[in-house]
Amino acid sequence: MSDGLFIGGQWRAGSDGDTIVVHDPATGEAIATVAAGTPDDATAAVEAADRAQAGWAATAPRERGEILRASWQTLVDNADELATLITREHGKPLADARGEITYAAEFFRWNSEEAVRIHGSIGISPAGTNQIIVRHPPVGVVVMVTPWNFPAAMITRKVAPALAAGNAVVIKPPRETPLTALRVAELLAEAGVPDGVVNVVPTNHSGPWFDAATANRACRMVSFTGSTEVGRVLLRRAADRVLKVAMELGGNAPFIVFDDADLDAAVEGAMVAKMRHSAETCTAANRFYAEAGVADAFTEKLAAAMGDVKVGSGFDAGVTCGPMINAEAIASISSLVDASVGAGASVATGGSAIDGPGHFFEPTVLGGVDPADPITTNEIFGPVAPVIPFSDHDAMIDAANDTEMGLAAYVYTADVGKGMRTAERLESGMVGLNRGAMSDPAAPFGGMKQSGLGREGASEGIYEFCETQYIAASW
Ligand code: SIN
Repeated sequence: MSDGLFIGGQWRAGSDGDTIVVHDPATGEAIATVAAGTPDDATAAVEAADRAQAGWAATAPRERGEILRASWQTLVDNADELATLITREHGKPLADARGEITYAAEFFRWNSEEAVRIHGSIGISPAGTNQIIVRHPPVGVVVMVTPWNFPAAMITRKVAPALAAGNAVVIKPPRETPLTALRVAELLAEAGVPDGVVNVVPTNHSGPWFDAATANRACRMVSFTGSTEVGRVLLRRAADRVLKVAMELGGNAPFIVFDDADLDAAVEGAMVAKMRHSAETCTAANRFYAEAGVADAFTEKLAAAMGDVKVGSGFDAGVTCGPMINAEAIASISSLVDASVGAGASVATGGSAIDGPGHFFEPTVLGGVDPADPITTNEIFGPVAPVIPFSDHDAMIDAANDTEMGLAAYVYTADVGKGMRTAERLESGMVGLNRGAMSDPAAPFGGMKQSGLGREGASEGIYEFCETQYIAASW
């Protein structure tokens, strides 16, 4: 595998020789060094994408679809190697890393089938004077900035639809997990993606890199997954060139358990919603609202399940929660938990960081959390479940919606009608009804309010990477 920048189908060193050292979060040890790109390298990558753009856009949809299908197959064939890379640089348990590769690859299979179904429309103007023809050409070169929590899937969720629509892309993977990104790019090239259609340039200088990439006239769109804080900055910068944007930003998901819910199913769902991928997901349940009649029993059962979680290196047998990504993550989780306990929450299990080496935190359940506690308004991004008892349904819905975030929400109830009515009132782009996981390449992933702009996955995910052109025609 190469440790260079991947530009125009070639591997090269960064133009000033800079490098990134990748660390294993389970030990803190350095495990690899890769080239780091400068702003000039970002420009070179956009230029390479621009050279490839017209040819790829002109490639027949069926052929693009077949290359995407081959990409799916290649990722699946190399799943063990890719999963090992993910666990090395991200730390998540190997089973989660394998699951991530299946999920990541599936974006190629789904979009291979959709590449031949990018539809426009034709209609007659109300006056009957002309035809209204609507078509969806590719937007052009897309700059993608991706996060470390899903080193493969957050790349493929963008790249597969962008390629299906006929675009070339430049990816800035995160400094924490560049190895998976580089290997995925190499495999896509082996699957037949032409030179320059996918370019990957890790960097130590995100701001100047982004400015250089997006200042280039060939860049027509920015697709970002990460925090709302960074998303706001990128939106401001993209505004200078009025670029099309797609933003998958932070979450603060409520997980609501009504007193008629099957408690065992609710706890099972809660464990998935909270703990999948070591609790480092934007969709992670962040605050658990449990109705008064079941709040104690739910807290107790959830604490038992969290207490049973084996924490450790993602390579160790039986481990289902790996390390957090770095020391800053541990400090942030600790300060939220300490403040909550200081304000009167009880610790049902866990509560503390685990001594190093590595960056581990005990799976934690906090009981009797005040609805206004800061832990309910901040994205925890770690294995901590605050439980907030409620008795008034309307007040609970108001509290669940009392956030600028609106990515994911979860509802558990035996009464599907009540569940649907609750889902409809939640200001959330995605709702799991009696389900702890929702992610699916065939479904539109994305948030309301400050959780994002646009959707990834489903057919909506492809149209994000298209323009709309209307032709008024008479004949
Ligand atoms: C994310 O955390 O942004 C992605 C979660 C998912 O796709 O399930």
